[in-house]
Amino acid sequence: MTIAIVGNGRMGKAVAALAIERGHRIHTVVDSTDNVAGRALTRERLAGADVAIEFTGPEAAVANLERLIELGIPTVTGTTGWTGALPRITALVEARRGALLHAANFSEGVHLFLRAARELARNFSGRPEFVASIRDEHHAAKLDAPSGTALLLQHQLGDTDGSRAFPIASVRAGTIPGTHTLTYEGPHETVSLSHVARDREAFAAGALAAAEWLPGKTGVFTFEHLLFGENA
Ligand SMILES: NC(=O)c1ccc[n+]([C@@H]2O[C@H](COP(=O)([O-])OP(=O)(O)OC[C@H]3O[C@@H](n4cnc5c(N)ncnc54)[C@H](OP(=O)(O)O)[C@@H]3O)[C@@H](O)[C@H]2O)c1
Repeated sequence: MTIAIVGNGRMGKAVAALAIERGHRIHTVVDSTDNVAGRALTRERLAGADVAIEFTGPEAAVANLERLIELGIPTVTGTTGWTGALPRITALVEARRGALLHAANFSEGVHLFLRAARELARNFSGRPEFVASIRDEHHAAKLDAPSGTALLLQHQLGDTDGSRAFPIASVRAGTIPGTHTLTYEGPHETVSLSHVARDREAFAAGALAAAEWLPGKTGVFTFEHLLFGENA
């Protein structure tokens, strides 16, 4: 496959390295140079790309996605912190009959963790003596807090058990790739469930799997569609 990488930071580099290892071709790497408002994403620059993988930042992602969708390039994005614009981007994908797969977290383990967390929430529902909380821990350079995954977890838990709040505490320190913990504290005991990413490979592998899966489809997808199909 011929892949355009948009964003040459930690994730862009990790995805490109893995893609080459797996026999794909990197068509172009678009960094922030000259790409204000997605202006470097031209038809000429992207001609021949089968798919684009976008990992930039919350400020840049929306313009990048708009340009890529306008150009008809199936696009995978892992950028977090932009989902307020998801309805607008979804409308554009539908109008252009394009393809977008977005995920705040591309690790398979996190999505299994989310399912286990919902199951835990079902079990704790109706037990107000336990107080729930979410903790997300990431490296000091992460721009958004809470993390997209913590917000997704909070949203899913709220849907599962509307009787309590799931407040999020965010820690930004050192080089932590990403840790999420759901905790229920009772008067005399604590139950917690964690997902710990040990390195970025898990995210890069998931994004690449999404890029292999997406071309030929139309619509807006999440990583769960790929992982769980009909049961997403
Ligand atoms: N979904 C997942 O599984 C997952 C996993 C890890 C991270 N993330 C998210 O992915 C995003 C990137 O993470 P990261 O760790 O790779 O961050 P990073 O190392 O800071 O890299 C972001 C890169 O994007 C570049 N950039 C900014 N604006 C751009 C634009 N308009 N066009 C092209 N490139 C642009 C930056 O360049 P400059 O430095 O020159 O500005 C930087 O090189 C974040 O939102 C993060 O939360 C998601």
